Parts: sequence; structure tokens; C-alpha cells
Amino acid sequence: MIADVVVDLQYGDCGKGKVSHYLCKTNDYTHVIRYNGGCNAGHTIYHEGKKFVTHHIPCGVFFGVKSVIGSGCVVNVKQFLSEIEELESNGIKTKDLVKIASNTHVITDFHMAQDGQDEIIGTTKRGNGPAYRDKYARKGMRAVDIPELEDYVIDLYSELHDNPSFDEVKILFEGAQGFGLDIDWGDYPYVTSSHCTVAGALLNGVPHTAIRDVWGVAKVYETYVGSKLFEGTDPVFATIREVGEEFGATTGRPRQVNWLDFDLLNMAVNVNGVNRLVFNKTDVLETVGRWNLYSGINMFEFTSGLDMQYWIEEQFKDKDIDIVFSGHKDRI
Ligand code: IMP
Ligand code: MG
Repeated sequence: MIADVVVDLQYGDCGKGKVSHYLCKTNDYTHVIRYNGGCNAGHTIYHEGKKFVTHHIPCGVFFGVKSVIGSGCVVNVKQFLSEIEELESNGIKTKDLVKIASNTHVITDFHMAQDGQDEIIGTTKRGNGPAYRDKYARKGMRAVDIPELEDYVIDLYSELHDNPSFDEVKILFEGAQGFGLDIDWGDYPYVTSSHCTVAGALLNGVPHTAIRDVWGVAKVYETYVGSKLFEGTDPVFATIREVGEEFGATTGRPRQVNWLDFDLLNMAVNVNGVNRLVFNKTDVLETVGRWNLYSGINMFEFTSGLDMQYWIEEQFKDKDIDIVFSGHKDRI
């Protein structure tokens, strides 16, 4: 068994969808598995020139690869079924490809209503926190209990460990949210309710020895959506928001913008054991013409994108990490 994992090193919205899409295109995976989160996530994917925003369904469907919502996720049945319909109506085949692990918990209308009242940390109001709360309180409902999901439910263990039709299982794990929102490593309580690191992927039934590459995805600046004050005072951040189209894919909320926090990024690289590192949206800073980052108590100002890239590469020179800087929506 081989597994590549895509993790977000900041606060979500760094372009995991794009990286997963690229990896699917260039590898022969047998499965793509979403390993955490629910429909709080919004993955923007450009496939054959068309824009898709998915919340639950992993990007394997675009390539005819089995796409599984893993046991570390929570799933909203209505949202899931409407996503299936939307993909089908856009010509993307989902039959026998999209599956849900039987032990995945479901987000109920009650969870949605409860989350809808939460203004404190500024959730996406998609019932995520209440669904995980009930899972851990041992009073949740699982996919296997829901008749409408009957055609989609699989036993993830037999799928991955006993399936004679796979010579070799080759998995792409697609994460949601990011390190800065992780329930344990993020800025608690301004966090989501799931595990957004490579450890979260391992909770979905694969041994640690299967892990091949860990793709860490970041942006060359940062964005965050939620209640805490995150944006700096420099008016350039409003420009970055416009140029970078930094508005939530799920809620449409404007994302708060700030410079890259190198220390957070480095911590995320270390915790996840990242060996492939992608920095997205270099084109945005090129357009804006400013390249800053924070490290320790300092803010570094660079005179060009290349200068900033060189500084970042220097910091990682003793680690075995392939670094890519990308300035394209649909390729890395
Ligand atoms: P929840 O996950 O809806 O409970 O929201 C908790 C925090 O995570 C809030 O600050 C949300 O804005 C943020 N969040 C949740 N999902 C995403 C995502 O996919 N991208 C960016 N932020 C997210
Ligand atoms: Mg997103």
C-alpha cells in the first residue's frame, strides 16, 4: 500500500484542491480519500477549463478514481446527494465511484441549527462542531445507519485491506482546513473540530508505513476566515484580497489577509513531516508588488518575489524538501 497525503499548512484555502487534482492527473491512484472535516470545506478545482467547488466529494471523481469520504469526516446527507447531482449534471460520472466509510458520522439538521447560532468563533455554520461533539459524546449517527446512503456506504477496512481486485492500493489523501485550524495545533478556540494533519489521514485505516509523500500546501501570504482579528493594518491587504479573490468558497465571507507567518509554516512542516512543499499564489504578490513575511519578532521586506523565494529556500536547505512556487490557478 502506498499513500500520498495533501495537508494545508495554514488556515485552509491554500489550494489543496489544485494540488490533489494535479496529483490525480500524474499518478495512478486506486483511491482518493477525504480524511477530515465536513461541508465546512470548499475545494475549488479547475477541471478541463471548468470551475467546480466541492465540499464533501474528493477530486478522484474527475479522473474516474474511487473517491471515498473517510471515517475522519462528518457528512451532511442532503449536501452530499446534491453534490452528486451537480457533478452528474456537469458530465462527471459518480456511479460506483463515490463512497462513504460506514463509520463516518453524519451532520443532522439539529447540528446545523445549533452551529447556526454560533457567532463566537465564526464557524461556517455547517454543523461541523456539533457533529463531532456528538461523535465523541458517543451519541452520533453514522453513515451505515442512513437508508439514503445505502448505495454509497462501504466498509473501509475491507476496501483497503481485503479487496482482491486491487493488486496494490495506492491512495491519495485529501485533507480539509489546515494546520492553523487544527483542533490541537491551531489557535484554540479559533479552530475547527477535526484533525488537519497527516495524523488525521492515518485515522482512516492505513498504516503509517504506507505514507510516501506528504505534500504541504501554503500560500505566499496568509488568509483566515473567522471571528478573531487577523488582518494587519496595511491597506495592501485589501488589495491582496481583491487580486487574490480571497472570499470563502463555502460562505462567500471575505477572508482576512496578512503576511506569511514563517514560524507557523515551519512548525506545520515539522509536525506533518512535509517532503513536498507548494507555495501558491505567487502571481498575486507579483501583481501587488509587495513581498513581506514574519519570522520571530521581525517582519522582512523583500524587493522581489525571487528574493523572498530565495530566503524561504535557505531556511529549508538542511531538510530534504522539494519546494515549488506556483503562480497558476490550474497547475503547480
Ligand atoms: P467550522 O469548521 O465550521 O466549525 O469553523 C471553525 C473555523 O474554521 C472558522 O474560523 C471557519 O471559518 C474555519 N474554517 C472551516 N472550514 C474552513 C475551510 O474549508 N477553509 C477555511 N476556513 C475554514
Ligand atoms: Mg477552501
